[in-house]
Amino acid sequence: MIIGVPKEIKNNENRVAVTPAGVTEFLKYGHSVYVQTEAGKGSGFTDEQYAAAGATILSAIEEVYAIAEMIIKVKEPIESEYGLIKENQLLFTYFHFASSEALTHAMIERKAVCLAYETVERADRSLPLLVPMSEVAGRMAIQEGAKYLEKPMGGFGILLGGVAGVKPANVLVLGGGIVGTQAAKMAAGLGANVTIVDISLARLRYLEDIMPANVDTVMSNEYNIRDLIKSSILIIGGVLIPGAKAPFLITRDMLKLMKPGTVMVDVAIDQGGCFETSKATTHEDPIYEVDGVVHYCVANMPGAVPYTSTLALTNATLPYALQLANKGWQNACSANEELMKGLNVVKGAVVFKGVSDAWNLSYTDVNEVL
Ligand SMILES: NC(=O)c1ccc[n+]([C@@H]2O[C@H](COP(=O)([O-])OP(=O)(O)OC[C@H]3O[C@@H](n4cnc5c(N)ncnc54)[C@H](O)[C@@H]3O)[C@@H](O)[C@H]2O)c1
Repeated sequence: MIIGVPKEIKNNENRVAVTPAGVTEFLKYGHSVYVQTEAGKGSGFTDEQYAAAGATILSAIEEVYAIAEMIIKVKEPIESEYGLIKENQLLFTYFHFASSEALTHAMIERKAVCLAYETVERADRSLPLLVPMSEVAGRMAIQEGAKYLEKPMGGFGILLGGVAGVKPANVLVLGGGIVGTQAAKMAAGLGANVTIVDISLARLRYLEDIMPANVDTVMSNEYNIRDLIKSSILIIGGVLIPGAKAPFLITRDMLKLMKPGTVMVDVAIDQGGCFETSKATTHEDPIYEVDGVVHYCVANMPGAVPYTSTLALTNATLPYALQLANKGWQNACSANEELMKGLNVVKGAVVFKGVSDAWNLSYTDVNEVL
């Protein structure tokens, strides 16, 4: 199959969908890979590295779309790319159709085959192509939190791990899923006292078993959270109720229970945030203060570490991309239910219920388009 890797053009997107290592894998199976010049630059991969791995470097995005049977990307196509997409062309990328009506209509019109990273789903209902970004964001939450706890950055002025003779900081992690687990591990590794709260007792039981001794688990309820925030200096929001807006676990009135200079990192901001006072921020202007409490609410945290994020994402996407290339999308999806779940819009038909519901479009059973 002919694979095309365009350079991401969405503002501040520095990730790339295939690394030179990925090119080597595609070539091993007899495929050819065309990479737009500088596609990997933001993630630290040069054209020379791609060429050495066997890719052909193309200078214009138009050439990549024109030649490719499968386009592999990171972010959804933006308006200037719509016209480049060909009928029957396979697009494998994040789409988030339910948040853009214009994109949905554009992809229907182009009659492309749109397989969305975010809806590829395992039998246990986990989302393997979203997990890596949660891992990155969870780990980063502590790094960012530690930074903004420094006095010159507006924080309380405390070192998470303390030193001999000085107590470590208390870190509260709301939600013990992927984000929460990674955040707790990082904070614990730095020597902080960590508490994870979750509503799932099974999850708390698991975390209690695997976490180091400086991590406690507590059932999530308002009473416990009100109590814990009084002594916590860094609070990480990592809750998720699939398909719904995040619940507000910290309301505005609760801020006055906290010490001035407390830092709150709302990783769940992409689902509306789990603090009432959260509003989405950017890497250019990541924090603001409410009632003396520093809020960090960057909606695309992994974007700040494109090298790590690209490798984490492509480690997860490459095995699926190889199946698509080796078998063709119809056979690959028929053979693998996980990939089948990724099909959203196929040759003008909306085959994902969440998308047809979101925009009041007619729904077609995916088996009719295979
Ligand atoms: N800002 C970013 O850049 C970024 C990056 C990646 C992920 N995220 C977001 O982070 C959030 C968490 O993602 P995840 O992958 O860890 O999800 P996850 O499903 O793995 O974990 C969510 C956890 O929240 C728990 N939970 C639900 N309601 C709760 C409540 N009331 N109190 C306490 N815990 C509760 C669940 O039981 C679950 O364990 C999501 O909204 C995700 O979209 C943001």
